[in-house]
Amino acid sequence: MGRLDGKVCLITGAARGQGESEARLFAREGATVWLTDVLDADGERVAGQIGAIYRHLDVRDESAWSALVTEMMGKHGRIDALINNAGIFATGRHFEIDPEEFARVMDVNCLGVFLGMRAVSPIMRELRSGSIVNISSLAGLRGGIGAFAYHTSKWAVRGMTKAAAVENGRRNVRVNSIHPGLIDTDMMQQLPGAEDEMRMTRRVPLGRAAAADEVANLALYLASDESSYSTGSEFIVDGGLNAL
Ligand SMILES: NC(=O)c1ccc[n+]([C@@H]2O[C@H](COP(=O)([O-])OP(=O)(O)OC[C@H]3O[C@@H](n4cnc5c(N)ncnc54)[C@H](O)[C@@H]3O)[C@@H](O)[C@H]2O)c1
Repeated sequence: MGRLDGKVCLITGAARGQGESEARLFAREGATVWLTDVLDADGERVAGQIGAIYRHLDVRDESAWSALVTEMMGKHGRIDALINNAGIFATGRHFEIDPEEFARVMDVNCLGVFLGMRAVSPIMRELRSGSIVNISSLAGLRGGIGAFAYHTSKWAVRGMTKAAAVENGRRNVRVNSIHPGLIDTDMMQQLPGAEDEMRMTRRVPLGRAAAADEVANLALYLASDESSYSTGSEFIVDGGLNAL
């Protein structure tokens, strides 16, 4: 028996990285997986390999969200889990980045999560069941130098998660955030100092970056009924960095 048997799950930014790992794991655990991204060739390839459905979805596009949710409801009549995973990273201190770059990061990382919750939670509220998982970051739990817009956006994801959890609690719709540390994906290669991985991971108590699967395991727990009493909470997967 799979841990997500009978569930319809939607994962954004799932053509590669953590989203791809989540799509593969969720499909193995019995879910009907819809994966979305802006990288269509990669998304179609992953979907084909795991028997999932791929659709192009720029998370900033409200009408695309609405079309996707309408299509999913037409096919299944339900959406049980939404993983708001799509995100971008950008460098720059607050006195260096221009407002356009700040807005670009906020649009994908923050507006995208809001639009996803806004499109899907009415369906879950009606069903009186559902789990929304928002991928924040360790950067949404603390400050840091050189990625001001990213930090801001990931704190906003954490805040939206708590507000939406409270708004949805009575309808049995759970909303939680995941806070990954250093995860070995394309995004990690964009972090300052990425050219020297040994140096970058030296401060991590477990002494290494994580594989994307290690975040997917946590997303699986939160998407499943195993986490039925958790909502509005922060789930950290960071090899101990936040304990420093
Ligand atoms: N890798 C890390 O170290 C790390 C750490 C903490 C948090 N995160 C977060 O984890 C999530 C997944 O990142 P990842 O590590 O897999 O990186 P990644 O770059 O491999 O994956 C991000 C995915 O999001 C997609 N995406 C970007 N803009 C989009 C848009 N406008 N609409 C739809 N999809 C879009 C990309 O095409 C890509 O497939 C992100 O939210 C990221 O901020 C990553």
